[in-house]
Amino acid sequence: MAVESSSSTWSQRFEEGLHPAIERFNASIGFDITLLQQDLDGSIAHARMLASTGVITAEEAEQLVAGLEQVRSEAAAGQFNPGLEDEDVHFAVERRLIAILGPLGKKLHTGRSRNDQVGTDLRLWLRGQIDAIDVALVRFERALLAQAEAHAEVMIPGYTHLQRAQPVCLAHHLLAYVEMAERDRARLRDLRKRVNICPLGAAALAGTPVPIDRRHTAAALGFDDVYANSLDAVSDRDFAVEFSAAASLVMVHLSRLSEEVIFWASEEFGFVKLTDRCATGSSLMPQKKNPDVPELVRGKCGRVFGHLQGLLVMIKGLPLAYNKDFQEDKEALFDAVATTLACLEAMAILFEEGLQFRPERLEAAVGSDFSNATDVADYLVAKGVPFREAYQLVGGLVKGCLQEGILLRDLALERWQQLHPAFQADIYEAIHPRQVVAARRSEGGTAFDQVQLQLRRAKARLDGAA
Ligand code: ARG
Repeated sequence: MAVESSSSTWSQRFEEGLHPAIERFNASIGFDITLLQQDLDGSIAHARMLASTGVITAEEAEQLVAGLEQVRSEAAAGQFNPGLEDEDVHFAVERRLIAILGPLGKKLHTGRSRNDQVGTDLRLWLRGQIDAIDVALVRFERALLAQAEAHAEVMIPGYTHLQRAQPVCLAHHLLAYVEMAERDRARLRDLRKRVNICPLGAAALAGTPVPIDRRHTAAALGFDDVYANSLDAVSDRDFAVEFSAAASLVMVHLSRLSEEVIFWASEEFGFVKLTDRCATGSSLMPQKKNPDVPELVRGKCGRVFGHLQGLLVMIKGLPLAYNKDFQEDKEALFDAVATTLACLEAMAILFEEGLQFRPERLEAAVGSDFSNATDVADYLVAKGVPFREAYQLVGGLVKGCLQEGILLRDLALERWQQLHPAFQADIYEAIHPRQVVAARRSEGGTAFDQVQLQLRRAKARLDGAA
């Protein structure tokens, strides 16, 4: 037998309760309980504002606040467990308040609607989460910086098209991800400004005849401004889309780094060793050590990108103002935030203690290829040979070496001089990987001294942030 839900939620217009399946379908309490603290904070600010404009007395406001704080304590003690019949966190809190305070509790919802209330709660919550993501980004950056500092002299092959291109400083490679993380932080800082606008007081859609003071609640809740248009206030979810887009880019960056770690850890590359702290074994193959952490990060991108897409599609056809479709914004945002935070933490730990670079393997890798070929051409350019001519000559030289199975450094000086009389004995020094890296001193280039500069700037930036 299906249990009929009570019809007491709604006005006396309703005579029958919801169908139990529809009650389940309609309810958001299963997930929007996440917004409990923000809902309480918003209601406390609203109650005090109502007193400030004389809608209720100061004493009534303080009783409402005490009642709301009691709900907070009950929740902390695990004694506030709303059920489906409460529909959502907003109704759940109001019901409990009325149970605690009696008729006075019924005054709280004066001049307010769940539409502006839920928008307020969600913005307050997201604002806090953005701040938490910023902290997580800083930790991730510090982990990269520590590895960069520890390997300031180590080189790694640099690739284009995943073909060996030119050797670079390992710290330079890691610092590229620090730059990406800094852009992520800047993006979040920027969109936070648009999250931090208060919709409270828009009421259902049109504002309210109740004498409210929107600036009062906005200031009490730490918002920078109030929405100028009540219709926009209750139907704007741009901030959710913007956040999901920024979170998606965080995930893109983590995923690209993950992909690199995964192949660095392979037998074929052997550039890093995974420590036992972050690697897992195989249930079957005893020799295996698997890079589960970066693989999971790479794999989790799909959920965050999916939430961005889901939000865009959910919003695009909605007429003004509030529509129940908006209830779907919560799980998307909650999961986008949780996933981003979890991946940032895991990647920070991976770089703090989950992997060890193998300098001997990296050293061997940069010394055993033709990634110094450009430097031969640059050598000739410095002696007045036009670049395109030098490029052609060196191409032929590489071809010859490949046929003989030797490297450029193995060529005798006569061979060099046969190719072009400008070659001198200093060609050997010029094509040494260390010199190849050290020579790239253009601003932002991979030369060791340029990288030191980058490192110092990146650290100063973070110290300024802390
Ligand atoms: N649970 C709803 C949501 O998440 C709260 C707002 C409900 N408003 C309404 N008019 N039904 O969006």
